[in-house]
Amino acid sequence: MLEVTDLHVSYGPVRAVHGVSLTATAGQVTLVLGANGAGKTTSLRAIAGFHKPDAGSVWFDGRDITGMAAHRVVRRGMVLVPEGRKIFLPLTVEENLRMGGYAAPKGSVEKGIEEIYQTFPILAERRHAQAGLLSGGEQQMLAFGRALMSRPKLMLMDEPSMGLAPAMVERVLSSVRAMADTGIGILMVEQNAEAGLRIADTVAVVSRGETVWTGTADEARDSKAIVHAMLGEAALDGV
Ligand SMILES: Nc1ncnc2c1ncn2[C@@H]1O[C@H](COP(=O)(O)OP(=O)(O)OP(=O)(O)O)[C@@H](O)[C@H]1O
Ligand SMILES: [Mg+2]
Repeated sequence: MLEVTDLHVSYGPVRAVHGVSLTATAGQVTLVLGANGAGKTTSLRAIAGFHKPDAGSVWFDGRDITGMAAHRVVRRGMVLVPEGRKIFLPLTVEENLRMGGYAAPKGSVEKGIEEIYQTFPILAERRHAQAGLLSGGEQQMLAFGRALMSRPKLMLMDEPSMGLAPAMVERVLSSVRAMADTGIGILMVEQNAEAGLRIADTVAVVSRGETVWTGTADEARDSKAIVHAMLGEAALDGV
């Protein structure tokens, strides 16, 4: 469903990404691991159309979408849930969801909101609350809900568990698994490798701007010494 080949992205003279290749599949969670500054966020943003790659290709759903602008990528069924959630804090939960459905026909917006309330009952309870008053975990679920309003086939997620308490990390990641189990493809960057591996099907390890390892989540757990060395951190302690 998604095939990224030899992606190159730079910020002026800074070559942030030079050789990222990975794939994502419907109904599966692909986990992207890598140390700080490895190029994970840059890769997701380039795939989703927020940054033009210098080279390489992005194929989605059988088409070449390399360099396509983000709003068109969303219409094709790929949506990015960005780092830091980026929900509209002064707006209510429901207003945030409506913004996620901006491109959808009016009738389907109401239906979409009701479906999201079924998936995330906490959002239904807090529908008229200001988003800024939600807990971090609730805000992350709102960010998922807003992305789901575009009825994506593939969701890209940048560190959804960032800043959350351990119990909330589990809840947020199990909701990611549940979204994949409905058939949506998930490409997720996660610093918490241990928690991420528990819900992932496949793994890509990015180091210094390049993909250096890909395999199944089971292989990643088995070869944790290798993954550990590539991450350069004690990121897999406890797996
Ligand atoms: N706007 C920018 N301008 C210049 N360089 C940037 C910019 N954003 C990122 N970089 C550089 O690009 C490289 C990759 O950064 P990126 O944010 O993609 O890494 P990351 O893997 O997401 O890291 P983290 O784990 O800290 O989120 C880093 O060397 C970073 O300093
Ligand atoms: Mg990042």
